[in-house]
Amino acid sequence: MSTRTRSASGSLSEEVPLNGNKWVRQTHRWLSIVFTVTVIANFIAMTQGPPPAWVTYSPLLPLALLLFSGLYLFVLPYATKWRSRKAAPSTHEWQGGPR
Ligand code: HEM
Repeated sequence: MSTRTRSASGSLSEEVPLNGNKWVRQTHRWLSIVFTVTVIANFIAMTQGPPPAWVTYSPLLPLALLLFSGLYLFVLPYATKWRSRKAAPSTHEWQGGPR
C-alpha cells in the first residue's frame, strides 16, 4: 500500500500521509456517532426517572476513545511536519521519488 494518498477531506490542497491516519479518522468519526447516541439515550432515559448507572456512564467509554483518537489526529500534522523537516527543508513538492 502506498504511504501517500490524496487528502481524505479534499479541503487540503497538499497531499498528506494517510497510513494509520485514515482508519483512526474513520474510527473517530464513528465513535462520535456512538457517543452522540449514548448522550441522547441518557436524555430519553431521564424522562423515565433516574436512569440506571450503566446508562449514565455509557458515554464515557466512547468519549475516552474519542479523546485518544482525537489527540492522535491533532498531533499527526505536527508529527508529519517534524518528520519532513528532518528529511528536507521543503518537502511539499516531494512525491516520494528517489532523492
Ligand atoms: C474528546 C476529545 C476530542 C478531541 C481531542 C478531538 C480531536 C479531533 C481532531 C484533532 C480532529 C481532526 C481535525 C482535522 O481535520 O484536522 C477531529 C475530527 C473530528 N471529530 Fe473530534 N475530538 C474529540 C472529541 C470529539 C467528539 C466528542 C465528537 C462528536 C461527538 C467529535 C467528532 C469529530 C468528527 C466528526 C471529526 C471529523 C472526522 C473526519 O475527518 O472524518 N470529536 N477531532
